[in-house]
Amino acid sequence: MISRNLLFHFQYCMLCLLSFHTRRTSPVNFLSSYCANTTYEPNSISGRIYSNNLYSVLDALSSNAFRTDTGGFYNISTGNDPSNTVYGLFLCRGDVSTDVCGQCVAIAAVKVIEECPYHEDAIVWYEECFLRFSNQAIFSRVDSYVVLSMYNVQNVTGRDQEKFKTTLENLVNDIAVQAANRTGGKMFAVREGDYSMGKNKLYTLAQCTPDLSALDCETCLSNAISVLPSCCNGRVGGRVMFPSCKVRYEVYPFYGSVSSAPPPTSSAPPLPANSPGGPPSSSTKGKFWSIVIYGSLFWACMQAYDFLFHLFADILTAESLQYSLTEIQIVTNNFSVDNKIGEGGFGRVYKGVLGNGQEVAVKRLSRSSGQGAEEFKNEIVVVAKLQHRNLVRLLGFCLEGEEKILIYEFVPNKSLDYFLFDSENKRSLNWARRYNIIGGIARGLLYLHEDSRLRIVHRDLKAGNILLDGNMSPKIADFGMARICGVDQSEGNTNRIAGTFGYMAPEYTRRGQFSVKSDVFSFGVVILEIITGKKNSTFSQSED
Ligand SMILES: *[C@@H]1O[C@H](CO)[C@@H](O)[C@H](O)[C@H]1NC(C)=O
Ligand SMILES: *[C@@H]1O[C@H](CO)[C@@H](O)[C@H](O)[C@H]1NC(C)=O
Ligand SMILES: *[C@@H]1O[C@H](CO)[C@@H](O)[C@H](O)[C@H]1NC(C)=O
Ligand SMILES: *[C@@H]1O[C@H](CO)[C@@H](O)[C@H](O)[C@H]1NC(C)=O
Ligand SMILES: *[C@@H]1O[C@H](CO)[C@@H](O)[C@H](O)[C@H]1NC(C)=O
Ligand SMILES: *[C@@H]1O[C@H](CO)[C@@H](O)[C@H](O)[C@H]1NC(C)=O
Ligand SMILES: *[C@@H]1O[C@H](CO)[C@@H](O)[C@H](O)[C@H]1NC(C)=O
Repeated sequence: MISRNLLFHFQYCMLCLLSFHTRRTSPVNFLSSYCANTTYEPNSISGRIYSNNLYSVLDALSSNAFRTDTGGFYNISTGNDPSNTVYGLFLCRGDVSTDVCGQCVAIAAVKVIEECPYHEDAIVWYEECFLRFSNQAIFSRVDSYVVLSMYNVQNVTGRDQEKFKTTLENLVNDIAVQAANRTGGKMFAVREGDYSMGKNKLYTLAQCTPDLSALDCETCLSNAISVLPSCCNGRVGGRVMFPSCKVRYEVYPFYGSVSSAPPPTSSAPPLPANSPGGPPSSSTKGKFWSIVIYGSLFWACMQAYDFLFHLFADILTAESLQYSLTEIQIVTNNFSVDNKIGEGGFGRVYKGVLGNGQEVAVKRLSRSSGQGAEEFKNEIVVVAKLQHRNLVRLLGFCLEGEEKILIYEFVPNKSLDYFLFDSENKRSLNWARRYNIIGGIARGLLYLHEDSRLRIVHRDLKAGNILLDGNMSPKIADFGMARICGVDQSEGNTNRIAGTFGYMAPEYTRRGQFSVKSDVFSFGVVILEIITGKKNSTFSQSED
């Protein structure tokens, strides 16, 4: 098994290569990092859940940074429990292009793990972006628990000093108000001013994370401005960076054009000299080709990077999802009868409690499944990525010898059939709840069929596979079992019918044809049961 560190080094090398290739077009400059003092234990169960959530947050940050509609800021959290939730965000400098922003965040997402391995809370600062994750809720609040300040070693010369100071003060106070006033937009402002009779200019920048209110942004920036004298007094350049805002000044322009997006050609790399003496037309042609070749090389690098990132993210995910049989035995009291909570077509289900106190349902698959170890893992990674509030979440697996075990979140209120078909229990299902349950199943099914990365046909949708959480909201269980257990996936026909008689569409039972439509048929049967409170078994089985 490849170790996580090695993988990250390799991934990081790929990024170095990438940034080397693209350096001329878009330098991404590392400034500093901060690792908070809390760490997780990578080999504990709770640590694995945390790191799994962390990788998925970093993955989401890197992929969203290439989007043009984020305005250079994005926040996301993952986790089903306050103890393992990871909050992450990135902010790109207000003037950088989407391309540079995307590259910066992708590189920062790897760098932060390298700089702060196993930390629960960390920040990396680059010239062009900053990225942060935490185990605490960090959105929409001013954070000033850590500050990074930097200055230019050059001093302002004697006679300009007073003018410099007042100009700087006026400019930064001005842009702080401006940036704070841009709520709903980038919360970013720049301004330049004169400090020596038109000879020398001063350039200033202020920016807040746009999740702050105007008041919070102003508070953060005035804190930052108040630090400037102590860090950078008398210097020709300085900056103060909090997790929620930053100010910077220099005597040279350090930000790009802000008013409008630069034309695409302005970011083209410097062109190599063309062969001398050639006619002007061929030299123009040469330039054109070098742009095209460079451009497609860059594009190919990005594709390769993207592919590798996802490949490694998947290997890492598989590693962090895997549990040993010993762990599972501890969790389930060695599969004790007392812990058994159900038995389905694919195996027995046990209740268990993980080391961090999280309750789980452990499904021990019956040994007949014909799936090889690698396919099994691949499918798990795919199914674990399907996350929706109306789906039971897959948290992990165990694969040892003949044992194949799946670990799911535990859903407290049993399954729908337990309520629907029991004269006593059915009373807790009033019409509002029934309506809510139908809507929730529909949303979960729509996600499986249309909105997730893949199209998943459930094939065994029935009242017994609809679990109810503490608020009596439905969660669909057992989706993806056909994939995990290696039932033939080739579209259309199958000899192995995996489903429950009475819920299955006629074309599926007779000819083995399945599609999303067979799930819709089963959903219809479930709706009838929810409305009538009667079991499938009382439906007629005749041709009609
Ligand atoms: C971490 O740092 C905070 C303050 O920065 C402190 O209150 C806390 O006790 C520290 N925790 C550990 C485990 O050192
Ligand atoms: C970002 O944070 C806000 C405020 O906490 C939250 O409402 C929003 O859902 C978050 N965005 C994502 C993608 O999680
Ligand atoms: C700038 O001034 C500080 C003290 O005010 C001094 O220590 C430093 O050497 C000066 N830097 C340069 C480049 O002259
Ligand atoms: C904020 O912007 C609006 C519109 O640009 C302007 O009318 C208002 O005076 C500004 N407020 C402050 C405090 O600058
Ligand atoms: C668990 O049960 C199996 C048989 O069911 C037994 O062979 C094994 O020794 C038990 N392990 C522990 C740790 O009790
Ligand atoms: C559902 O679960 C919640 C929390 O576990 C519990 O308070 C509630 O009584 C349950 N509802 C029913 C109808 O069992
Ligand atoms: C009705 O559905 C249940 C599962 O809820 C299943 O066990 C039973 O075989 C079905 N009955 C018929 C007649 O299809």
